[in-house]
Amino acid sequence: MNTVSSKIPASLLSARRVMDRADALARHSELPGGLTRVYLSAEQRAANGLVLGWMLEAGMDAKLDAIGNCAGRYEGAKPGLPCLMLGSHLDTVRDAGRYDGMLGVITAIDCVHALNASGKRLPFAIEVIGFADEEGVRFGTTFLGSRAVAGTFKQEALDAVDEDGMKLAEAMRGFGLDPARIGEAAHSRETVLAYAELHIEQGPVLEAEGHAVGVVTAINGATRYAFEIEGFAGHAGTVPMGLRKDALAAASECVLAIEARASSEPELVATVGKLETLPGAMNVIPGRVRFSLDLRAPRDAQRETAVAEVLAKLQAVCTRRGVTLHAKKMHDEPVARCADWIQAQIGAAIQEEGRPVRRLPSGAGHDGMAMQAIADIGMLFVRCKSGVSHNPAEAIAEEDAETATRVLLRFIENFTTPARP
Ligand code: GLV
Ligand code: MN
Ligand code: MN
Repeated sequence: MNTVSSKIPASLLSARRVMDRADALARHSELPGGLTRVYLSAEQRAANGLVLGWMLEAGMDAKLDAIGNCAGRYEGAKPGLPCLMLGSHLDTVRDAGRYDGMLGVITAIDCVHALNASGKRLPFAIEVIGFADEEGVRFGTTFLGSRAVAGTFKQEALDAVDEDGMKLAEAMRGFGLDPARIGEAAHSRETVLAYAELHIEQGPVLEAEGHAVGVVTAINGATRYAFEIEGFAGHAGTVPMGLRKDALAAASECVLAIEARASSEPELVATVGKLETLPGAMNVIPGRVRFSLDLRAPRDAQRETAVAEVLAKLQAVCTRRGVTLHAKKMHDEPVARCADWIQAQIGAAIQEEGRPVRRLPSGAGHDGMAMQAIADIGMLFVRCKSGVSHNPAEAIAEEDAETATRVLLRFIENFTTPARP
């Protein structure tokens, strides 16, 4: 462990630079005046250019990996050592905030800058990854970037299509990536000592209790479905109410059933975030409706039971209404526990900055869920304004960015792996 006297000066960090870089990335958006940046888009290419440049400037080797992640590496005391992997994602939801994901990448680069500027090499390498697809907005598939790094990329994902009918494989080629080479992004367990991610809390707990930062204990599990209800389109003026097979009326009942089931127990949450009515005309009875389900819980058994009950309820609604339900599971991730030893080291870094340690679970999903396939994971949460996220109003204080980056630097500097039994 490093002694206090060998500490890297926190003055080499710059919260102003972190905030400015979040602003700079937010300018690369397909949504004018807002922020939407999806996987394999022109906006992502531009954001990658910035991030790779900052990595190089901070003293790292930097490249786009085989899935399109920005991957930077700062060698340790000698070349080729296993790494402490840091990072988060660079893609966004639609009409997003500018810190969800990006903050974890930018702060990690700032820490490497401080290490490099003080000429410090550690007994391990540091890799910083800006994951290309965490939100899964474009292809409905989450964690494409981190799954590739973890070596768990599912080949069937290459057939996923975006709203324009373009397959993922085709979009990759258009971006200059070769789907046949995705395996080259994979890291083995032996080469990654741990994965640690700094992220905004995206909830209200830290702010309510007056903490700038917190240690994540676990990431809630999540299941996602794409549903399609097939009814029968018809004339809005001529078909009597009792003779209709209205797919939207059925979907509406399903949405309320989902809400009721999730509201029936604490800590369970479920969301229908997408709903599309076809053919989508004022004077046509909806013949087909597509909608999504995102259901999360802190316990796997709780989530699995709720999903089974929701599916049964939706089927019952559709049978009673004489419409057909098609269900496709899009995502199913169990609870990801943050390793006790990493929690302890993040906690120690917080204390070293003179702050109390608040532990809390994450209701949001994170790349660590995929990364746990090859490494123990840990997360540092940063307070955000009013707990608002996945919303353009997402905000953090510059002082909190400063505290969080200092904590991350202390964590990196003091990082040690537990003795193997
Ligand atoms: C990612 O932001 C998620 O939790 O959906
Ligand atoms: Mn998000
Ligand atoms: Mn995120």
